[in-house]
Amino acid sequence: MPKLTVCIGSSCYLKGADKVIEEIRKLIDEHDLKGKLEFCGSFCMGECGNDGVNVTLDGVHYSIKPEEVTEFFKKEVLKKCEEGDLK
Ligand code: FES
Repeated sequence: MPKLTVCIGSSCYLKGADKVIEEIRKLIDEHDLKGKLEFCGSFCMGECGNDGVNVTLDGVHYSIKPEEVTEFFKKEVLKKCEEGDLK
């Protein structure tokens, strides 16, 4: 199962980690991905200098702003989940 982690450290929180998490939760519901995607939070990932909120998807690092969540989710997360389905 793909694993999506969002940093909830203070620097990412200030950049909107709570909004990113809320948006991802909605998208997981909309796409009925419960049980197909592991979603969790992490302490500081050591990447606070990035512009956006730090996220990892199966260990691959991304920095996303709250307004970019939907695009990131559709492009990267859904693709991963579909790949998972094919295995
Ligand atoms: S608080 Fe998120 S990378 Fe440091």
